[in-house]
Amino acid sequence: MELNGKVAVVTGGASGIGAATCALLARSRARVVVTDVDDARGEAVAAELGENALYLHADVTREQDFAAAIRTATERFGRLDAMVNNAGRVGAWTYLEDITLEEWDATFAVLARSAFLGTKHAARVMREQGSGAIVNISSVAGLRTGFGPHPYGASKAAILQMTRSAARELAPLGVRVNAVTPGGIATRIQGHGAGLEGEALDASIDNVRQGLRTFQPIPRAGEGADIAGAIAYLVSDAASFVTGQNIVVDGGLTLGKGWPSNYRAEADATAQSRRPD
Ligand SMILES: NC(=O)c1ccc[n+]([C@@H]2O[C@H](COP(=O)([O-])OP(=O)(O)OC[C@H]3O[C@@H](n4cnc5c(N)ncnc54)[C@H](O)[C@@H]3O)[C@@H](O)[C@H]2O)c1
Repeated sequence: MELNGKVAVVTGGASGIGAATCALLARSRARVVVTDVDDARGEAVAAELGENALYLHADVTREQDFAAAIRTATERFGRLDAMVNNAGRVGAWTYLEDITLEEWDATFAVLARSAFLGTKHAARVMREQGSGAIVNISSVAGLRTGFGPHPYGASKAAILQMTRSAARELAPLGVRVNAVTPGGIATRIQGHGAGLEGEALDASIDNVRQGLRTFQPIPRAGEGADIAGAIAYLVSDAASFVTGQNIVVDGGLTLGKGWPSNYRAEADATAQSRRPD
């Protein structure tokens, strides 16, 4: 993928899908503002990428942090071509009747509301330029039940509809808005959601990877790089006629029930049993 010096802001760039995205964008010759609330990891990601990347502390629940991140991109690199709204947490994980209003709002703030804020502030710069691409990260939990808690899934579904309505408004102004929907990806998010910290959290990634091996029809866990590839495509000029779309990168997880593995033997047996004597 050739990104020819495009300038990108990535939220949640310190870990998992965000870190893999920063790495792929930088390898594709983009300049990247890595943002996160995990300063140690974020600084390390940016340092690894060299002079075409920098790290900025930005909390996606705070509107002023989005304004600052985008100002940093335009002051340091002169423009903004890509905004990747990726940061996320699992949030409140309990039965419907036990979720407090505060937990519901906090989950929406870090997921759906942050995608709105990133889209709003990026669009202000991109419409002036007459070009730009915004990519919002949803989840299979926003498409189907059973893949995440209620406020998480509802937030991720909201992100998909906001992507479509923003895309419709901004297309005539040269700004494209798309979504990427990951399936089971081996990152820290699951361990974090289970309350792990430090080394236990780092170690959880391999356990998650093992657990996801048979979770979907493609028999391996998803990796951050799988999602980064779809994001880089949507940001690139190869996708210049693509807007309002959602690329599902889930190893076939949402395809539904498959044929039984011995379906041929079953079909033959059924045909045999129906044959007249
Ligand atoms: N891993 C999966 O299986 C999976 C599946 C579907 C969707 N997703 C989505 O992908 C995105 C990235 O998740 P990941 O799997 O890479 O997880 P991760 O935990 O590895 O990375 C998430 C990053 O977001 C940051 N973050 C959290 N709250 C923040 C805040 N308030 N402000 C700024 N940064 C914040 C964290 O510090 C972390 O660096 C999330 O939106 C997640 O919902 C992940």
